[in-house]
Amino acid sequence: MDINVIPHNHKIVKEDREKRLGQKPIVLWLTGLSGSGKSTLAGALEAELYNKGFATYLLDGDNVRTGLNSDLDFSENGRIENIRRLGELCKLFADAGILVLTAFISPFQSDRDSVRSLLEEGEFVEVFVDTPLEICEQRDVKGLYKKARAGEIKNFTGIDSPFERPLNPEIRITTHDKSISSAVNELLTLILPKISRNG
Ligand code: ADX
Repeated sequence: MDINVIPHNHKIVKEDREKRLGQKPIVLWLTGLSGSGKSTLAGALEAELYNKGFATYLLDGDNVRTGLNSDLDFSENGRIENIRRLGELCKLFADAGILVLTAFISPFQSDRDSVRSLLEEGEFVEVFVDTPLEICEQRDVKGLYKKARAGEIKNFTGIDSPFERPLNPEIRITTHDKSISSAVNELLTLILPKISRNG
């Protein structure tokens, strides 16, 4: 950071926005392979939270990569920068009092840990969407595994680019052996006590 940049403390603070919104922000960070069900799960959970009156925002890898991060590739450095920017973005959303749900592969433990360390204690909730590669590949909703196997896409996560399984996630969820709604309920049970604000 440039030493001549001096952050300003504004009058309205996070606590004020939390009170206005009647909620405690968290960043619910879904990590897992492409096709593991992160976006589907995050979308279904967001709808539940929205219907309960919470102010939410869902950040999705494919979507952010068409805008804010459209200059980044899938090399190791591209992914590191992708997650670094998104971590900062999550911090801003949390500061705004919003409940953030994210769906990024985020394959590296050190990047996920960096985002955790940007946020307040207890604010980062790491959710490992643990769908085996074989199932993601069978689903192949976007046809990308087929292309990766054919060598048409390089550095594809799970094929020729690594995915580091979370070491200590707040919760591990499977989607291939249960309905989306029961996975959503597991997540709701975990987060409702964290996001509800008394008074
Ligand atoms: S991350 O690794 O940098 O966290 P991110 O979640 O933003 O990835 O984007 C993943 C999405 O980009 C995948 O769901 C898939 O649709 C698409 N994609 C395109 N190329 C690749 C690739 N080489 N590896 C993984 N996903 C890719």
